[in-house]
Amino acid sequence: MTQTELKQEFIKLYGEGGDIRLFHSPGRVNLIGEHTDYNGGFVFPAALSMGTTIALRKRDDNIVRMKATDLPDMVTIDLSDLSGYKDLFWGNYQAGVLDELKKDGYTLVGCDMLYDDTLPHGGGLSSSAAIQVSTALTFATLAKEAEGKDEPVDMVAMAKIGQRSEHNYIGVKCGIMDQFASAMGKKNHAIFLRCSDLSYELVPMEMDGYTLIISNTNKKRGLADSKYNERRSECEEGLRILQTVLPDIKTLSDVSLDDFNKYGKVIENEVVYRRVRHVISENDRVLKSVEALKSGDMKTFGALMNASHDSLRDDYEVTGIELDTLVSEARNIPGVIGSRMTGAGFGGCTVTLAETSATEEFIEKVGKAYEAKIGYAASFYLSTIEDGGHEIF
Ligand code: GLA
Repeated sequence: MTQTELKQEFIKLYGEGGDIRLFHSPGRVNLIGEHTDYNGGFVFPAALSMGTTIALRKRDDNIVRMKATDLPDMVTIDLSDLSGYKDLFWGNYQAGVLDELKKDGYTLVGCDMLYDDTLPHGGGLSSSAAIQVSTALTFATLAKEAEGKDEPVDMVAMAKIGQRSEHNYIGVKCGIMDQFASAMGKKNHAIFLRCSDLSYELVPMEMDGYTLIISNTNKKRGLADSKYNERRSECEEGLRILQTVLPDIKTLSDVSLDDFNKYGKVIENEVVYRRVRHVISENDRVLKSVEALKSGDMKTFGALMNASHDSLRDDYEVTGIELDTLVSEARNIPGVIGSRMTGAGFGGCTVTLAETSATEEFIEKVGKAYEAKIGYAASFYLSTIEDGGHEIF
């Protein structure tokens, strides 16, 4: 929906008058560095053109009314008591963010809102983070205005609020990557982020002659949340065991590959051992990928993407037949440099680095092969890399 269409829809729903404002936050694709964020490691995401746009108008009471352009029901939230919204089918993500903002002392202002999401829901491109960050930014902006503070909203704080709402309201113990990318993304740049202290570097994506193709398995992600939390506890167990021989480590990312090769065998449980091996080897791949990309060495970057997927399939076990099919079919196409799953896994999307000239053949052949094997169609997106959360003026 264009900005003008969104405003027209808003007026149809809530009536004319007042100042209608627009806020936007994007989804993300992670180029490499998967399941490392909650282990204090490195990630390398970029913000997409798809995301959440909110149209809103202030009210002069404590009520928030919100609706999505693609859902029939309107949700009403009373800001004076935010308990009781956890079970909403839609609106729970927003309520979680409001709850966290309130805990941090933001003055919550009532408003009417219309959400337009262009990301596939639950497709592994951070549709939830886009909702969380756009909601946090919107209400934090209104709060600053109400409090008479003429200062910009702290976007890293918005990312943290989004993450906390996911932990406390949704019950997924996610890392910071998705919300950080949605808040802090920059046009034509990927974010090389160290999750232990949130220091980051924006790396220009010189994509001359290359394209990132995002392929969606369209698989419904059944038990993804509980599997995600399970992986996280396996890593915590691995950390506890490694600390018996490496007492100074605080996270798995404090362990070098060399130290892991030396001391890793202390982890007797073979599954936990493989989970840890993934995290430590993946951190190393991120560092090498950033170097490769900076020096324009796409071949090395592609090979690291492939190695990342293989590790997520064999050691971390978060891929599944749908993601593996997309990746193996992608690698058969001439001009494909590297292909891997992106995001949490268990369904969701893959990201492929390909020569731009291979794009058409890619979509046709991978699409056909996927449907023949899996029984339903995949979707493909060619997104540009865009800015993180902001008000649209
Ligand atoms: C999800 C989480 C992130 C991250 C990825 C896996 O997207 O929200 O924090 O852990 O999975 O890399």
